[in-house]
Amino acid sequence: MAKFGTVFCDYFAIARYEDGTWQQPAITPVAPISLHPAAHVFHYASTCFEGFKAYRWEDRKARIFRLHDHVARMQKSAASLHMPIPDADLLAGMVLDVVKKNIDEIPQPPSALYLRPTMIGTLENIGAAAAPTTDAILFVLTSPVGDYFEGGARPLKLLVEDQKARTTEQLGSTKTGGNYAAALGPTLDAKEKYGVDQVLFCPDGDVQETGAANFMLLSDDEIITKALDTSFLHGITRDSILRLGEDLGYTVRERNFTVDELLRCAATHEAALSGTAASLAPVGCLVHNGEQISVMDGRPGPNTEKLRAALQDIHSGAAADRHSWLTEVA
Ligand SMILES: Cc1ncc(COP(=O)(O)O)c(C=O)c1O
Repeated sequence: MAKFGTVFCDYFAIARYEDGTWQQPAITPVAPISLHPAAHVFHYASTCFEGFKAYRWEDRKARIFRLHDHVARMQKSAASLHMPIPDADLLAGMVLDVVKKNIDEIPQPPSALYLRPTMIGTLENIGAAAAPTTDAILFVLTSPVGDYFEGGARPLKLLVEDQKARTTEQLGSTKTGGNYAAALGPTLDAKEKYGVDQVLFCPDGDVQETGAANFMLLSDDEIITKALDTSFLHGITRDSILRLGEDLGYTVRERNFTVDELLRCAATHEAALSGTAASLAPVGCLVHNGEQISVMDGRPGPNTEKLRAALQDIHSGAAADRHSWLTEVA
Protein backbone atom coordinates (compact mmCIF):
# COMPACT_ATOMS: atom_id res chain seq x y z
CA MET A 1 0.00 0.00 0.00
CA ALA A 2 1.32 3.49 -0.88
CA LYS A 3 2.45 5.94 1.79
CA PHE A 4 -0.45 7.30 3.91
CA GLY A 5 -2.25 10.14 2.16
CA THR A 6 -0.49 10.02 -1.22
CA VAL A 7 -3.04 8.09 -3.27
CA PHE A 8 -6.56 9.36 -3.93
CA CYS A 9 -9.79 7.91 -5.23
CA ASP A 10 -10.91 9.22 -8.61
CA TYR A 11 -13.88 11.24 -7.37
CA PHE A 12 -14.36 13.91 -4.75
CA ALA A 13 -17.29 15.97 -3.49
CA ILE A 14 -17.23 19.76 -3.80
CA ALA A 15 -19.54 22.62 -2.85
CA ARG A 16 -19.14 26.39 -2.98
CA TYR A 17 -20.41 29.03 -0.57
CA GLU A 18 -21.26 32.23 -2.46
CA ASP A 19 -23.67 35.12 -1.90
CA GLY A 20 -24.46 33.86 1.56
CA THR A 21 -25.59 30.34 0.58
CA TRP A 22 -24.20 26.90 -0.12
CA GLN A 23 -24.49 25.85 -3.74
CA GLN A 24 -25.59 22.32 -4.60
CA PRO A 25 -22.64 19.93 -4.00
CA ALA A 26 -21.28 17.88 -6.89
CA ILE A 27 -19.36 14.63 -7.15
CA THR A 28 -16.72 15.12 -9.82
CA PRO A 29 -13.35 13.66 -10.89
CA VAL A 30 -10.54 14.88 -8.63
CA ALA A 31 -8.94 17.82 -10.44
CA PRO A 32 -7.01 20.98 -9.59
CA ILE A 33 -9.05 23.84 -8.11
CA SER A 34 -8.45 27.21 -9.70
CA LEU A 35 -8.26 30.14 -7.26
CA HIS A 36 -7.56 33.85 -7.59
CA PRO A 37 -4.13 34.68 -6.11
CA ALA A 38 -5.88 37.06 -3.69
CA ALA A 39 -7.93 34.21 -2.17
CA HIS A 40 -8.23 34.70 1.58
CA VAL A 41 -6.81 31.25 2.38
CA PHE A 42 -3.44 32.07 0.76
CA HIS A 43 -2.88 35.16 2.88
CA TYR A 44 -4.82 34.76 6.09
CA ALA A 45 -5.02 30.96 6.46
CA SER A 46 -8.79 30.61 6.45
CA THR A 47 -8.86 26.82 6.30
CA CYS A 48 -10.04 23.90 8.37
CA PHE A 49 -10.35 20.19 7.81
CA GLU A 50 -11.32 16.82 9.25
CA GLY A 51 -9.84 13.33 9.13
CA PHE A 52 -11.75 10.09 9.69
CA LYS A 53 -12.33 6.73 8.09
CA ALA A 54 -14.79 4.45 6.32
CA TYR A 55 -14.32 0.67 6.67
CA ARG A 56 -15.55 -1.99 4.27
CA TRP A 57 -16.96 -5.13 5.79
CA GLU A 58 -17.32 -8.56 4.26
CA ASP A 59 -20.93 -7.77 3.29
CA ARG A 60 -19.31 -5.20 0.91
CA LYS A 61 -21.11 -2.29 2.61
CA ALA A 62 -19.04 0.54 4.05
CA ARG A 63 -19.30 1.94 7.58
CA ILE A 64 -18.15 5.44 8.48
CA PHE A 65 -16.79 5.79 12.01
CA ARG A 66 -18.31 8.65 14.05
CA LEU A 67 -19.40 10.64 11.00
CA HIS A 68 -21.64 13.02 12.93
CA ASP A 69 -19.00 13.80 15.55
CA HIS A 70 -16.51 14.69 12.83
CA VAL A 71 -19.08 16.86 11.07
CA ALA A 72 -19.77 18.64 14.38
CA ARG A 73 -16.03 19.20 14.97
CA MET A 74 -15.66 20.65 11.46
CA GLN A 75 -18.53 23.05 12.22
CA LYS A 76 -16.81 24.04 15.45
CA SER A 77 -13.53 24.68 13.61
CA ALA A 78 -15.32 26.77 10.97
CA ALA A 79 -17.09 28.80 13.67
CA SER A 80 -13.89 29.52 15.54
CA LEU A 81 -12.27 30.80 12.31
CA HIS A 82 -15.37 32.88 11.44
CA MET A 83 -15.74 30.97 8.20
CA PRO A 84 -19.08 29.92 6.67
CA ILE A 85 -20.34 26.99 8.75
CA PRO A 86 -21.27 24.03 6.58
CA ASP A 87 -24.73 22.74 7.29
CA ALA A 88 -24.44 19.35 9.05
CA ASP A 89 -26.73 17.62 6.55
CA LEU A 90 -24.87 19.11 3.61
CA LEU A 91 -21.45 17.96 4.83
CA ALA A 92 -22.64 14.53 6.01
CA GLY A 93 -24.41 14.09 2.66
CA MET A 94 -21.23 14.97 0.73
CA VAL A 95 -19.27 12.41 2.78
CA LEU A 96 -21.90 9.69 2.25
CA ASP A 97 -22.08 10.41 -1.50
CA VAL A 98 -18.33 10.37 -1.99
CA VAL A 99 -17.93 7.13 0.00
CA LYS A 100 -20.69 5.54 -2.08
CA LYS A 101 -19.06 6.71 -5.33
CA ASN A 102 -15.66 5.27 -4.35
CA ILE A 103 -16.94 2.21 -2.47
CA ASP A 104 -15.09 -0.31 -4.67
CA GLU A 105 -11.77 1.29 -3.75
CA ILE A 106 -12.13 0.74 0.00
CA PRO A 107 -9.65 -1.89 1.17
CA GLN A 108 -10.49 -4.53 3.80
CA PRO A 109 -10.01 -3.65 7.52
CA PRO A 110 -7.70 -2.78 9.17
CA SER A 111 -7.05 -0.82 5.96
CA ALA A 112 -9.70 1.81 5.27
CA LEU A 113 -10.80 4.79 3.22
CA TYR A 114 -9.46 7.95 4.84
CA LEU A 115 -11.87 10.88 4.48
CA ARG A 116 -10.62 14.44 4.37
CA PRO A 117 -13.28 17.19 4.33
CA THR A 118 -11.53 20.52 3.81
CA MET A 119 -12.80 24.09 3.64
CA ILE A 120 -10.89 27.08 2.29
CA GLY A 121 -11.72 30.80 2.27
CA THR A 122 -11.94 32.14 -1.29
CA LEU A 123 -12.80 35.82 -0.78
CA GLU A 124 -10.59 37.80 -3.19
CA ASN A 125 -9.21 40.49 -0.90
CA ILE A 126 -5.64 40.92 0.28
CA GLY A 127 -6.76 43.69 2.62
CA ALA A 128 -8.87 41.31 4.71
CA ALA A 129 -6.36 40.44 7.42
CA ALA A 130 -8.86 41.44 10.08
CA ALA A 131 -12.00 40.42 8.19
CA PRO A 132 -13.44 36.94 7.68
CA THR A 133 -13.82 35.29 4.30
CA THR A 134 -17.36 35.57 2.94
CA ASP A 135 -16.83 32.91 0.27
CA ALA A 136 -15.56 29.36 0.59
CA ILE A 137 -15.03 26.03 -1.11
CA LEU A 138 -15.76 22.84 0.77
CA PHE A 139 -14.55 19.53 -0.60
CA VAL A 140 -14.21 15.93 0.58
CA LEU A 141 -11.16 14.07 -0.68
CA THR A 142 -10.74 10.34 -0.07
CA SER A 143 -7.63 8.17 0.14
CA PRO A 144 -7.29 4.38 0.61
CA VAL A 145 -4.90 3.86 3.52
CA GLY A 146 -3.17 0.82 4.93
CA ASP A 147 -2.66 -0.58 8.39
CA TYR A 148 -0.58 1.83 10.43
CA PHE A 149 0.70 -1.15 12.42
CA GLU A 150 1.79 -3.32 9.51
CA GLY A 151 4.63 -5.42 10.87
CA GLY A 152 3.46 -4.95 14.47
CA ALA A 153 3.01 -1.99 16.75
CA ARG A 154 6.40 -0.30 17.19
CA PRO A 155 6.62 1.64 20.45
CA LEU A 156 7.10 5.36 19.77
CA LYS A 157 9.74 7.68 21.17
CA LEU A 158 8.58 11.17 22.20
CA LEU A 159 10.44 14.31 23.13
CA VAL A 160 8.82 15.89 26.20
CA GLU A 161 8.84 19.60 25.31
CA ASP A 162 8.07 21.45 28.54
CA GLN A 163 8.39 25.01 27.25
CA LYS A 164 6.91 25.46 23.79
CA ALA A 165 3.21 25.09 22.98
CA ARG A 166 2.02 23.23 19.89
CA THR A 167 -0.02 26.28 18.89
CA THR A 168 -2.05 29.09 20.42
CA GLU A 169 -4.56 28.67 23.22
CA GLN A 170 -7.43 30.14 21.18
CA LEU A 171 -6.96 27.79 18.20
CA GLY A 172 -5.70 24.64 19.94
CA SER A 173 -9.03 22.84 19.59
CA THR A 174 -9.56 24.04 16.00
CA LYS A 175 -8.44 21.69 13.24
CA THR A 176 -6.74 24.32 11.11
CA GLY A 177 -3.59 24.24 8.97
CA GLY A 178 -1.74 26.92 10.93
CA ASN A 179 -1.56 24.68 13.99
CA TYR A 180 0.39 22.11 12.01
CA ALA A 181 2.66 24.80 10.59
CA ALA A 182 3.37 25.96 14.17
CA ALA A 183 4.27 22.45 15.35
CA LEU A 184 6.41 21.62 12.33
CA GLY A 185 9.61 23.45 13.29
CA PRO A 186 9.86 22.03 16.85
CA THR A 187 8.99 18.56 15.52
CA LEU A 188 11.63 18.58 12.77
CA ASP A 189 14.23 19.91 15.24
CA ALA A 190 13.41 17.17 17.75
CA LYS A 191 13.56 14.44 15.12
CA GLU A 192 16.96 15.63 13.99
CA LYS A 193 18.40 16.24 17.46
CA TYR A 194 16.95 13.31 19.41
CA GLY A 195 15.75 10.84 16.78
CA VAL A 196 12.23 10.92 18.24
CA ASP A 197 9.01 10.12 16.38
CA GLN A 198 6.99 13.02 17.79
CA VAL A 199 7.04 15.89 20.26
CA LEU A 200 4.75 15.82 23.29
CA PHE A 201 3.93 19.48 23.85
CA CYS A 202 3.74 20.38 27.55
CA PRO A 203 3.88 24.19 27.78
CA ASP A 204 4.78 25.27 31.32
CA GLY A 205 4.77 21.60 32.28
CA ASP A 206 1.10 20.97 31.33
CA VAL A 207 0.99 17.68 29.36
CA GLN A 208 -1.14 18.38 26.26
CA GLU A 209 -0.72 16.43 22.99
CA THR A 210 1.62 15.73 20.09
CA GLY A 211 1.49 17.34 16.63
CA ALA A 212 -1.31 15.06 15.44
CA ALA A 213 -2.48 12.80 18.29
CA ASN A 214 -3.73 12.92 21.88
CA PHE A 215 -1.76 11.44 24.76
CA MET A 216 -2.89 9.13 27.57
CA LEU A 217 -1.53 7.07 30.45
CA LEU A 218 -2.96 3.61 31.14
CA SER A 219 -2.73 1.08 33.93
CA ASP A 220 -4.70 -2.08 34.71
CA ASP A 221 -7.44 0.01 36.30
CA GLU A 222 -7.24 3.62 35.12
CA ILE A 223 -6.82 5.85 32.08
CA ILE A 224 -5.49 9.38 32.63
CA THR A 225 -5.67 12.08 29.97
CA LYS A 226 -5.83 15.86 29.92
CA ALA A 227 -9.27 17.37 30.59
CA LEU A 228 -10.89 19.12 27.62
CA ASP A 229 -10.05 22.80 27.19
CA THR A 230 -9.32 25.02 24.19
CA SER A 231 -5.57 24.32 24.14
CA PHE A 232 -5.66 20.98 22.28
CA LEU A 233 -7.67 19.05 19.71
CA HIS A 234 -10.57 17.07 21.14
CA GLY A 235 -9.80 13.77 19.46
CA ILE A 236 -12.67 11.51 18.52
CA THR A 237 -10.38 8.51 19.06
CA ARG A 238 -9.57 9.85 22.54
CA ASP A 239 -13.27 10.01 23.31
CA SER A 240 -13.86 6.53 21.85
CA ILE A 241 -11.04 4.99 23.90
CA LEU A 242 -12.29 6.65 27.08
CA ARG A 243 -15.80 5.32 26.51
CA LEU A 244 -14.58 1.82 25.66
CA GLY A 245 -12.32 2.01 28.72
CA GLU A 246 -15.35 2.71 30.90
CA ASP A 247 -17.16 -0.24 29.30
CA LEU A 248 -14.17 -2.45 30.17
CA GLY A 249 -14.13 -1.31 33.81
CA TYR A 250 -11.31 1.26 33.78
CA THR A 251 -11.67 4.42 35.84
CA VAL A 252 -11.36 7.33 33.41
CA ARG A 253 -9.61 10.36 34.86
CA GLU A 254 -9.83 13.42 32.61
CA ARG A 255 -7.60 15.81 34.50
CA ASN A 256 -4.56 17.95 33.93
CA PHE A 257 -1.18 16.53 34.87
CA THR A 258 2.36 17.82 34.81
CA VAL A 259 5.61 16.65 33.27
CA ASP A 260 6.84 15.71 36.77
CA GLU A 261 3.87 13.40 37.25
CA LEU A 262 4.29 12.01 33.74
CA LEU A 263 7.92 11.11 34.38
CA ARG A 264 7.00 9.40 37.66
CA CYS A 265 4.18 7.49 35.91
CA ALA A 266 6.59 6.10 33.31
CA ALA A 267 7.47 3.40 35.87
CA THR A 268 3.86 2.46 36.67
CA HIS A 269 1.73 3.27 33.61
CA GLU A 270 1.72 2.55 29.90
CA ALA A 271 1.63 5.58 27.59
CA ALA A 272 -0.11 5.83 24.24
CA LEU A 273 -1.07 8.22 21.45
CA SER A 274 -4.63 8.21 20.15
CA GLY A 275 -5.76 9.37 16.73
CA THR A 276 -7.55 8.32 13.57
CA ALA A 277 -4.32 7.31 11.78
CA ALA A 278 -2.63 5.44 14.65
CA SER A 279 -5.74 4.36 16.59
CA LEU A 280 -3.92 3.72 19.89
CA ALA A 281 -0.15 3.63 19.44
CA PRO A 282 2.16 2.56 22.27
CA VAL A 283 4.81 4.96 23.54
CA GLY A 284 7.98 3.17 24.70
CA CYS A 285 10.38 5.99 25.50
CA LEU A 286 10.32 9.63 26.63
CA VAL A 287 13.22 12.03 26.12
CA HIS A 288 13.42 14.85 28.65
CA ASN A 289 16.36 17.22 29.28
CA GLY A 290 18.50 15.00 27.07
CA GLU A 291 17.76 11.92 29.17
CA GLN A 292 15.90 8.84 27.90
CA ILE A 293 13.19 7.46 30.17
CA SER A 294 11.73 4.06 29.37
CA VAL A 295 7.94 3.73 29.71
CA MET A 296 7.49 0.53 31.74
CA ASP A 297 9.68 -2.05 29.94
CA GLY A 298 9.61 -0.06 26.69
CA ARG A 299 7.37 -2.59 24.93
CA PRO A 300 3.69 -2.22 23.94
CA GLY A 301 1.67 -2.82 27.10
CA PRO A 302 -1.36 -5.11 27.53
CA ASN A 303 -3.80 -2.29 28.34
CA THR A 304 -2.87 -0.35 25.21
CA GLU A 305 -3.27 -3.51 23.13
CA LYS A 306 -6.59 -4.42 24.75
CA LEU A 307 -8.11 -1.00 24.15
CA ARG A 308 -6.78 -0.77 20.62
CA ALA A 309 -8.25 -4.18 19.83
CA ALA A 310 -11.60 -3.13 21.33
CA LEU A 311 -11.67 -0.11 19.02
CA GLN A 312 -10.51 -2.00 15.93
CA ASP A 313 -13.07 -4.74 16.53
CA ILE A 314 -15.80 -2.13 16.20
CA HIS A 315 -14.23 -0.80 12.98
CA SER A 316 -14.12 -4.26 11.41
CA GLY A 317 -17.48 -5.48 12.71
CA ALA A 318 -15.89 -8.15 14.94
CA ALA A 319 -17.54 -6.50 17.97
CA ALA A 320 -21.02 -5.00 18.33
CA ASP A 321 -21.34 -1.23 17.81
CA ARG A 322 -22.93 -0.61 21.20
CA HIS A 323 -22.50 3.16 21.05
CA SER A 324 -23.97 3.53 17.53
CA TRP A 325 -20.74 5.01 16.20
CA LEU A 326 -21.00 3.55 12.70
CA THR A 327 -23.00 4.96 9.79
CA GLU A 328 -23.74 2.38 7.13
CA VAL A 329 -23.26 3.20 3.44
CA ALA A 330 -25.02 0.73 1.19
C1 LIG B 1 -3.51 17.83 16.79
C2 LIG B 1 -4.27 16.57 16.81
N1 LIG B 1 -4.59 16.03 18.00
C3 LIG B 1 -5.30 14.89 18.09
C4 LIG B 1 -5.74 14.23 16.95
C5 LIG B 1 -6.56 12.99 17.08
O1 LIG B 1 -7.87 13.27 16.70
P1 LIG B 1 -8.82 12.12 16.19
O2 LIG B 1 -8.79 11.07 17.23
O3 LIG B 1 -10.16 12.77 16.08
O4 LIG B 1 -8.28 11.65 14.90
C6 LIG B 1 -5.40 14.74 15.70
C7 LIG B 1 -5.81 14.03 14.47
O5 LIG B 1 -6.69 14.40 13.81
C8 LIG B 1 -4.68 15.95 15.60
O6 LIG B 1 -4.36 16.48 14.43
